[in-house]
Amino acid sequence: MPRLRALLGIAGLIGLVGLAWLLVDRGPAPTPGAPVLDTVSPELLLRSGGSTTTVHAGERAFSLSARSMGLPDRIRFADGDVPFEHPFGPEDGLGAAHNADGCLGCHVNNGRSPSPDGFVAEAGPILLLGLVDGSPDPGLGEQLQDRGPEADGILTVDWVEEPGTYPDGTGFSLRRPVVSVDGADVTSLATSLRAAPPVFGGGLLEAISVDDLRAMADPDDADGDGISGRLQEATGDDGTPAPGRFGWKAQHASILATTRHAFDVDMHLDHGLAAERFGDDFLADTAFYTRTVAVPALRDLDDPDVRAGAAWFVQVGCASCHRTEPYVTTVVDVQALSDEVITPFTDLLLHDLGPGLADDLPQGIATGSEWRTAPLWGIGLTGVVGNEHYLHDGRARSVEEAILWHGGEAESARRAFVALAASDRALLLRFLSAL
Ligand code: HEC
Ligand code: HEC
Repeated sequence: MPRLRALLGIAGLIGLVGLAWLLVDRGPAPTPGAPVLDTVSPELLLRSGGSTTTVHAGERAFSLSARSMGLPDRIRFADGDVPFEHPFGPEDGLGAAHNADGCLGCHVNNGRSPSPDGFVAEAGPILLLGLVDGSPDPGLGEQLQDRGPEADGILTVDWVEEPGTYPDGTGFSLRRPVVSVDGADVTSLATSLRAAPPVFGGGLLEAISVDDLRAMADPDDADGDGISGRLQEATGDDGTPAPGRFGWKAQHASILATTRHAFDVDMHLDHGLAAERFGDDFLADTAFYTRTVAVPALRDLDDPDVRAGAAWFVQVGCASCHRTEPYVTTVVDVQALSDEVITPFTDLLLHDLGPGLADDLPQGIATGSEWRTAPLWGIGLTGVVGNEHYLHDGRARSVEEAILWHGGEAESARRAFVALAASDRALLLRFLSAL
């Protein structure tokens, strides 16, 4: 029965893809600049997560299994979903100081953390701590644990509004976080406020070949386009150096490492107690689940406004980092993730986005002002899935605010965006809403 349903699902997807292909191929040509939807074949763009892609666009858009997985992998997915969704307690290993009692506490509906407004009641953003060289504080560790009987202290975020104006006179206001901690002295430490990003599509990002990443890196800006891009250095699952891919500064090399870090640091989990409840493979199963969550399909590619917005996206230079060309993933241990054509809209590289977004906490080779290009696939569904806020600390209340915070290597793209006519800015935002 699941197999039949899968087949029907695939047939439906092929139908949709065909439909989109017909519509897109015959739609009007995008107006300005390099037409992204014409340079990339439309059926690939529609299915940005390759054959894992789901067309579900509701609240569960980030929570479904890779559509193309066979039954054994779906069973393992279901096994890993259990610890992912479980609210842990002290009896199954939750630490006496922690940030949340489970993955879903921060990745609500597999998406972002509860909105930072009045977040104190819920697991919200977390505060990373470090000495100025980035190493953990000997007392408090690498993160403030603000919950549990042995919590380090209480984190509060206040927001300061910073008004600004577009060249055409339209006003806007951006908010900047001001962090304070009660109960622990962090004044001499480097800190970084981090919101939780969505967790779908991880196994596909993991399967992008190192050669592809190296080919995009341009650490000394040899091509002189003002955009460098550095490959983060992290540690692979076998203990050897590997490029970093996950986390806002790409500080983790793999989904397994990211998942282990979440259990160890966000939850201070006792692995022995957790294994008694969920089996010895609970960590690997949770990581498997996290690798194989489906990517949501693009929508409305037949809408001429979406097509025009995509062209502006390329034209103003967003695609220099949020790359629109597809990747072909390498062959990995999971067939559904192997040899897939995907479009995550990221180069996974570190870029200096300027002082406005900088923290003072280095991670790996990333300086305070360097961040990994955030993948934009699925970003248009953020409001539907819940907790709409963007950027590493959740300061942006809309995608538009996120763009306005770009500086540094992205300064020329931001300038080109603000210089557009209001109607063209709206087209670009319309394109992002279709991702
Ligand atoms: C206390 C909140 C919290 C909990 C609990 C939590 N996460 Fe996260 N997660 C985050 C934050 C914050 C980040 C970004 C970290 C950073 O850049 O420093 C993140 C990042 C990630 C990423 C990387 C996504 C990307 O695109 O870079 C994955 C994958 C992930 N978490 C999986 C999990 C899993 C699996 C669990 C449960 C075992 C979990 N998380 C529990 C807050 C949390
Ligand atoms: C120089 C590289 C670069 C360019 C050019 C660039 N971005 Fe980004 N973008 C980033 C990085 C890095 C981040 C993560 C920054 C952070 O979280 O502090 C980001 C974050 C974002 C986010 C928030 C993503 C999230 O998950 O919260 C959006 C939306 C976005 N960019 C859209 C755009 C658009 C639209 C353009 C063109 C106007 C653009 N970007 C140009 C590198 C770039």
